[in-house]
Amino acid sequence: MISRRDFLRTTGAAVAAAGAVHPWFAWAAEGPPTTIPGKDGMILRSLRFLDLEMPAEYANSFLTPLPHFFVRNHMQEPVTIDDRTWKLTVGGEVGNPLTLSAADLLRFEPHTVINTLECAGNGRAFEEPHVPGVQWARGAVGTARFFGPRLRDILERAGVKSTGKHVMFRGLDEVPGKVPPFIRSIPLEKALDSDTLVATRMNGDPLPQHHGYPARALVPGWIGAASCKWLSEIKVLDKEFEGNFMNPGYRLPNQPVRPGDPVKPEDTHPATALGVKSLISSPSEGATLKPGKVEIAGAAWAGGADIVKVEISLDGGSMWQPAQLGNDRARYAWRLWTSRWKTPKPGDYVIMSRATDSLGRIQPERAAWNPGGYLNNSIDQVKIHVQA
Ligand code: MTE
Repeated sequence: MISRRDFLRTTGAAVAAAGAVHPWFAWAAEGPPTTIPGKDGMILRSLRFLDLEMPAEYANSFLTPLPHFFVRNHMQEPVTIDDRTWKLTVGGEVGNPLTLSAADLLRFEPHTVINTLECAGNGRAFEEPHVPGVQWARGAVGTARFFGPRLRDILERAGVKSTGKHVMFRGLDEVPGKVPPFIRSIPLEKALDSDTLVATRMNGDPLPQHHGYPARALVPGWIGAASCKWLSEIKVLDKEFEGNFMNPGYRLPNQPVRPGDPVKPEDTHPATALGVKSLISSPSEGATLKPGKVEIAGAAWAGGADIVKVEISLDGGSMWQPAQLGNDRARYAWRLWTSRWKTPKPGDYVIMSRATDSLGRIQPERAAWNPGGYLNNSIDQVKIHVQA
């Protein structure tokens, strides 16, 4: 276990060694790859509260290796949790409140869910007009195999009363100054879904520090914010939790709004499930290609819905050609895809990818703007140059 000072010192030294231009404790623009303990080749979006974006090139494997899995923190990570003394309380509208240790969690039947976790703000950097918040480009997303007890089994042991309607999670983040604590809730129905977990492992390893050690909620198919890290408390409520990260945070307008227009809080609802979306992992943005064959590849996901089609266009969206979907699949996981092309005549091109899901949803050319820049699922684009 490293202390916060060591963590920051190591991180700062590594950032400096990598030649990064980011000043300490400042928002960072996309820069050279940064070295953070446990992470490799990530784009640093914030160092104050660690926010790391996965370069899109890593969306080339069904399971994202942990060193490349994005990190989204609203505040400081708790770096001193000891799983021998850590406790998870389960209370509120229950008949039998519980206090569970890490060892107690191991006694519940474990379940595995492969889930594509995406931050609701992924793609915010492309919003026009600009919206405040972490300027995620394309890689606040990754897929992992999560493992742990079902939340349903824990709630059953606690005995949810008929008055219980929502389930609240509290994380152990270190809350600086006036920042409100990271607390959110999900409806009871989603909490009782057989795939909603209290996850203790990720890709076979104990949950890494950055991803919520020793236990996090895993709410599959929903925006990443639903999956609270460093869990310390589960509380059954008679209504939705009212706090900063439920309102005004993570809300969408009830009606389409004109880009840039303000939205009244009462005309909004919480963001929940992810939309249909695709990401081009290869070629890279700005790549120069030699004439010949080119493989265009990427991933596509749609919350709990299936990806039924991914199409590619090289002519600005007039003609679309279907890509081949990969064999690996799981209900909440992205589907890899590839498409083989002959390079067109020398010049500059934009490769576009567009996914369609089993609910009949198609990625829009331009996603509906909203003041939080949430769930931006516009068609993905990569600029390339074909050499003579
Ligand atoms: N849980 C806590 N306790 N604190 C946080 O800041 N961030 C949320 C969620 N859970 C957050 C949290 C958000 S916004 C996202 S997108 C996911 O964690 C990111 O999970 P990851 O960092 O494991 O990729």
